[in-house]
Amino acid sequence: MGRLISFEGGDGAGKSTQIALLATWLREQGREVVQTREPGGTPEGEAVRNLLVSGAKHWDGVAEALLVTAARRHHWRQVIEPAMKAGRFVLCDRFSDSTRAYQGAGRGVPRQVLDQLLELATGGVLPDLTIILDIDPQLGLRRAARRQDSENRFEREAIEFHQRLRDEFLSIAAAEPVRCVVIDASLGIDAIAEQIRSVVKERLL
Ligand code: TMP
Repeated sequence: MGRLISFEGGDGAGKSTQIALLATWLREQGREVVQTREPGGTPEGEAVRNLLVSGAKHWDGVAEALLVTAARRHHWRQVIEPAMKAGRFVLCDRFSDSTRAYQGAGRGVPRQVLDQLLELATGGVLPDLTIILDIDPQLGLRRAARRQDSENRFEREAIEFHQRLRDEFLSIAAAEPVRCVVIDASLGIDAIAEQIRSVVKERLL
């Protein structure tokens, strides 16, 4: 059986850089790796992503949670489950903790509703390991603003919204220390990558 590692954190925490570095390293260790993201990871999921993250859409929190759950269900069945059954390492840019942070803490959707939706999408299965890249939202948003893309619907939310996301990621990590590891994302790229490698070595290899 393979392993699912999710990467979480606020916007601009550097997840995609770190996923690419870990993927290269795991391949050097002889592992087969699938890099993917949520919402997304399939053509259908990428279409949902576009509905969710770009432009000035007026979804409320429940509608957002339903959208990401539809994409997650498809991604789980089409990509993640088959890859895990084939013994691969799946590195996923965001997963269910983002729903708890953005739609739960950010938009106020009750935890119980989000748990039911996760049950529908994955049967309640969570990642084997979750790397939370923790960053001060002011700094993260400054970094994210440098990216030339149109995926800024959440980035435009008030700083208080982003602070709630950060607090939620940290409280998930505190409640689930076996699954989650918090890494200081204000460190340099190489220092962060080294910490991630050592956690993966210690817990999953
Ligand atoms: P990214 O650009 O950081 O990869 O993520 C895309 C956006 O999708 C991000 O701003 C957060 C949002 N999102 C949710 O709101 N709920 C979710 O469950 C997921 C996976 C992402």
